[in-house]
Amino acid sequence: MPVISAPQEFNEEELYVDLRSVLGHPLYLKCEGFNFAGSVKLKAAEEMISAAEKDGILTPGSTLVESSSGNLGVALSVIAANRGYQFLCVTDSRCNRSTRRLMEALGSQVHIIAGPDAESGFLGARIDYVRQLVASDPRYVWLNQHSNPNNWVAHYRTTAPAIARQFPKLDILFVGAGTTGTLMGCSRFFREYEKRVRIVAVDSVGSVTFGGPSGTRMIPGLGTGVRPALLDESLVDEVIHVPEADTVRTCHQLARRGFLFGGSTGTVVGAAGKWLADHTAGDELTAVAIAPDLGERYLDTLYQSDWVRGLYGDDVLDELAVGTGSM
Ligand SMILES: Cc1ncc(COP(=O)(O)O)c(C=O)c1O
Repeated sequence: MPVISAPQEFNEEELYVDLRSVLGHPLYLKCEGFNFAGSVKLKAAEEMISAAEKDGILTPGSTLVESSSGNLGVALSVIAANRGYQFLCVTDSRCNRSTRRLMEALGSQVHIIAGPDAESGFLGARIDYVRQLVASDPRYVWLNQHSNPNNWVAHYRTTAPAIARQFPKLDILFVGAGTTGTLMGCSRFFREYEKRVRIVAVDSVGSVTFGGPSGTRMIPGLGTGVRPALLDESLVDEVIHVPEADTVRTCHQLARRGFLFGGSTGTVVGAAGKWLADHTAGDELTAVAIAPDLGERYLDTLYQSDWVRGLYGDDVLDELAVGTGSM
């Protein structure tokens, strides 16, 4: 029985959903949304804050500032509230309303960047704003999830060993790429301890992370408009890009089975399902994918019919409508 006295002390590390009946292929989905921040980012937030405290960068009276598409912002809000720091989250207009409200409820301030930078997109515009803040007042401390090694160290220390413990015969791991903290932490761990594990990175079409052309992306979590400083492509065996319309379809397919996940989970599961279908040995492999969060924060977007149809077309969910009720 876990008993905790601080919200960041608990992470569910042992919950997997067997998706064989949904995908027609075996895939174990590691669920990272069951903690007090509701996402995998609690681990990165805890690792980065603890390291900054240890190094004397973060001291009583500091104000944390961070660029986040939402989930790291919530995670930092949870820990900042618990440890008595102020926190200012710089996000953009794609951040879910409920995520923003969550941060505010936890006592954080939220600054929304309304428009993208012409070259570096929303992420570039957010980072420019954070840089200006940090230059304006020495009390601001920017942990910078995009380049902070403790972001990947968190997953090297926790997520990857937890998967290895449950699946000693793991063949293939599918990981979504945002800052690439989860991806780099897991791939470094498996390169070191279990080289045979194939690491497949999953990204959104329109993301420049792996060198693709930049395009409009509306679902937060995965993908970047600026290549992540943490990424070492030599640690990745394969990259799959998923169009957002497919992400939406997969999310709804899972929801029809009672599993309400966030957008990046739909992206990763969609990619993994296709990979397993395309490879004849797929059914014999032990395959795991990581689900970074749950779906409640996406009720006004991914799970809202006007939002979905307006962005991806009237027929995007047609295949799902047959015999499964309306959206
Ligand atoms: C929902 C969601 N999925 C995926 C990711 C990507 O994780 P990482 O930044 O470790 O690459 C994030 C990061 O914020 C996220 O919020």
